[in-house]
Amino acid sequence: MTEIVDGEALAAEIREGVADAVEQFEGEGVTPGLATVLMEADPASETYVEMKQRDCEEVGIDGIHVEVDPDAPAEELHETIRELNEGTAANGILVQMPVPDHVDAQAVQAAVDPAKDVDGFHPENVGRLMSGEPRFRPCTPHGVQRLLADAGVETEGADVVVVGRSNIVGRPLANLLSRRADDGNATVTLCHSRTADLAAHTRRADVVVAAAGVPEMIDAEMVTPDTTVIDVGINRVERDGESTLVGDADFDDLEGYVDAITPVPGGVGPMTRAMLLYNTVKATREQTGVDVSLP
Ligand code: GUN
Repeated sequence: MTEIVDGEALAAEIREGVADAVEQFEGEGVTPGLATVLMEADPASETYVEMKQRDCEEVGIDGIHVEVDPDAPAEELHETIRELNEGTAANGILVQMPVPDHVDAQAVQAAVDPAKDVDGFHPENVGRLMSGEPRFRPCTPHGVQRLLADAGVETEGADVVVVGRSNIVGRPLANLLSRRADDGNATVTLCHSRTADLAAHTRRADVVVAAAGVPEMIDAEMVTPDTTVIDVGINRVERDGESTLVGDADFDDLEGYVDAITPVPGGVGPMTRAMLLYNTVKATREQTGVDVSLP
């Protein structure tokens, strides 16, 4: 039997814990705030940002949404970020990626106050993570760590193969899982589009994390019955004339074969959003000194 790892259920538990933390803040006269900033006119980004704002509302975080004209000069986005950095309403700031081509994404990430950088993308926070002292763990990698723990997958000594080397998922996750920590201590191999014989790596893995952005690329021939598959992919594809979402793992091929797998949707996606709320609470705690418990 393949365990279907339920990200919706775990995310709901974390949101409850966040709501408790928000109540503790309220008792001290503090309302945590999260600002989302959207510049790219992209339907998927618009949906993601709306969902993040809805999550804020559910747990009592003050959601602040700012849209910047996609054709405006980059300076307009920087001015928005400066105002949010300097103001007290937003404890966390998230600039939705991608940004338009004429805007330098790295400069944008570096412009966010690192104390409010709930994405964990600022170079200072990337450096802290690299040196083993993360302040804000990027939301998707943190969500994957929580899912593994919840599914009872021991990472210590495990062979983990991460497929995909993005700055948002693959690289920070490889770092976190190899860290000397209870939720780390894994032997991590970071594979990517130029890896020779990918299947030779995935077949000897205890855990495969599929985060390459390639629809259904991990199938049963690439894993064993003992493998846990964590699917980070969200790909919109046409199936039988209809648009549908699939992951980077071939769920239908793997269900019934592997030990455990996360579904798409309902696996990593909701966890990414839950960990953003977690980071917002953490940022608020550090900025205010009000010592609430984190879920
Ligand atoms: N676009 C896709 N994923 C992310 C994310 O985790 N954070 C931000 N800011 N933009 C994204």
